[in-house]
Amino acid sequence: MKGQPSPVEPDDPTGIRAVTWRDGRLDLLDQRRLPADVRRVVCEDVDAVIHCIRDMVVRGAPAIGVTAAYGAVLAARARLEADGAGWLAGFRTDVARLARARPTAVNLAWAVARMLRAAEAAADGADPVNALLDEARRLHAEDIAMNVAMAKHGANLLETPGSVITHCNAGALATGGLGTALGVIREAWRRGLVTRVWVDETRPWLQGARLTAWELGREGIPATIIADSAAAQVMRKDPPTWAIVGADRVAANGDVVNKIGTYSLAVNARHHGVRFMVVAPTSTLDGATPTGDDVPIEQRDPEELWEAAGGLPAGAEATNPAFDVTPAGLVDALVTERGVAMPPDEDSVAELLRA
Ligand code: MRU
Repeated sequence: MKGQPSPVEPDDPTGIRAVTWRDGRLDLLDQRRLPADVRRVVCEDVDAVIHCIRDMVVRGAPAIGVTAAYGAVLAARARLEADGAGWLAGFRTDVARLARARPTAVNLAWAVARMLRAAEAAADGADPVNALLDEARRLHAEDIAMNVAMAKHGANLLETPGSVITHCNAGALATGGLGTALGVIREAWRRGLVTRVWVDETRPWLQGARLTAWELGREGIPATIIADSAAAQVMRKDPPTWAIVGADRVAANGDVVNKIGTYSLAVNARHHGVRFMVVAPTSTLDGATPTGDDVPIEQRDPEELWEAAGGLPAGAEATNPAFDVTPAGLVDALVTERGVAMPPDEDSVAELLRA
């Protein structure tokens, strides 16, 4: 690639590189096979990127935003080669497809909109591909910086040492690096405020049991995997200080859309007096969507549900919503890189978006 040298690859504080741009290609850690098999998938064009997002080679709201940004670079490069000066029209079509790869996490559409603006600004410049690569790298580096800021804001809310509970994977694997909920947990652990992490296994895809437990284990942070349905019993017997989760989208009224099972965790937390923290960068806040019920919820293949049982019993049906809505009223703190909304509601979310 010609033109100005691009900024260096952002530094991932955990050493886990879920998303990397290397030698003009997008290199993803394959999250479908972790932790049994650590292998990478390389994308050379936008169709491969769309496939990897849909098939969850890469997953987690901020990580799919960063991936889409690099995917836009691949789209621009191919369109320039194929269409020359008229490349922008085809690029628009490609990135519209990219934005639809998964419906729920708003970071995907947010990143694509940002790359489209960058493409329009660079369209007539000497080297639009390099300009877009710079923008993708900036977005990636900003994501890591936001995680670092959120880690501090969130850890400041923990007052006494104790256990915490988390759901799904909101760690380095789900972001540009460090993580949202796991960023807070890492920082609080460093400060001596976390004695154990209860990790919901997160049926059916097992983001907790496979990915979160793997991330915590690498750093020696004590982690205990539990069945999702064991969370209430843990809270009753040995209450964690906080439940700490990420988000795929936060609606204008503060409702939180996150991995299926988050809602029941929040209900259980309220019942047992466990405070509930949602950690999400402002790229996850969606001021244009009034409530959680207005957010499209991805329905995944029901086969994911009966895989473990070895098959669907004759006559049974199954449905597999991948996300649920936690009403804002069940959330004690919404932590962003710009500060904390306690509690999140229409006013505090609007203020964070304005800040
Ligand atoms: O289906 P996934 O694995 O992409 O769902 C991920 C989640 O629900 C995470 O909790 C969310 O994206 C926050 S990640 C920082």
